[in-house]
Amino acid sequence: STASTIPGYTYGEPQVAHSPVTMAELDELKQTLLWTAEDDEALRMVGDVLADQVSDVVATWYDYVASHPHLAAYFAPPGGAPDPTYLERVRPRFEQWILDTCRRPHDQTWLDYQQEIALRHTKAKKDQTDHVDAVDQVPLRHLIAFIFPITETTRPFLARKGHGQDDIERMHRAWLKAVTLEVALWSRPYVRENAW
Ligand code: HEM
Repeated sequence: STASTIPGYTYGEPQVAHSPVTMAELDELKQTLLWTAEDDEALRMVGDVLADQVSDVVATWYDYVASHPHLAAYFAPPGGAPDPTYLERVRPRFEQWILDTCRRPHDQTWLDYQQEIALRHTKAKKDQTDHVDAVDQVPLRHLIAFIFPITETTRPFLARKGHGQDDIERMHRAWLKAVTLEVALWSRPYVRENAW
C-alpha cells in the first residue's frame, strides 16, 4: 500500500487534532533518551533496512499477539474471538508506522499523529477508525510492556542486509529509543494531566 491509500491512515490530514504535548516536552523526552544525531542517522538506516521487510516484521508481531490470548483480546469484542477484518485493516497502518518512525521528521505534524495513535488505543477513539465492535481500550501497561517484543523481534530483520555488528547495534538502539519515545508520548491521554 502507499500511504495515501491506506484505510484510516490520516497522517498529516487536517482532521488530526493538535497534540497537547509541546515541542519543548518532546525535546526533553529526547534528552532523557540521550537522543543524538547518530540516532537520527541510525534510524534512517533502519528505514532503509526494513523498507522491503515491513510485511514480514508486522507478520512477526501479529503472530506474537495471536499467540497471547490476553493481547489478541483487544482485537475482539468482550469475551469474543478476534475480528480478522479489524486485524487486517490495522495491518497496513502498522507497516506504514515502521517507515514513519524511521523517516518522518519530529515536527508538529508528527507530534499530532502520535497523539492520534495514542487516542486510537484508548476509549476516546479505539475501534472508530475501522468501525468495529471490539474491546474499547488497550490498557497502558500492555503498551509499555510491548516495547520489549517490538524491539527484540526487530533485531533479526536488522541483521539481514549485511551490516556489521556495530551498525546493527546502533540501529537496534535507535529503534528502541524511537519506540520508547512514542510510547512515552502515547501515555499522555491515559493519565491525569498533572501526572503526565
Ligand atoms: C493500532 C503500534 C501496543 C493493539 C496501532 C497502530 C500502530 C500501533 C502503529 C496503528 C495506528 C494508526 O491507526 O495509524 C503499537 C506499538 C505498541 C502498541 C508501537 C507498543 C510498543 C499495542 C498493544 C496492543 C495493541 C499492547 C494490544 C493487543 C492495537 C489495536 C489497534 C492498534 C487494537 C487498533 C486501534 C484502533 O481501533 O484504531 N498500534 N501498538 N497495540 N494497536 Fe497498537
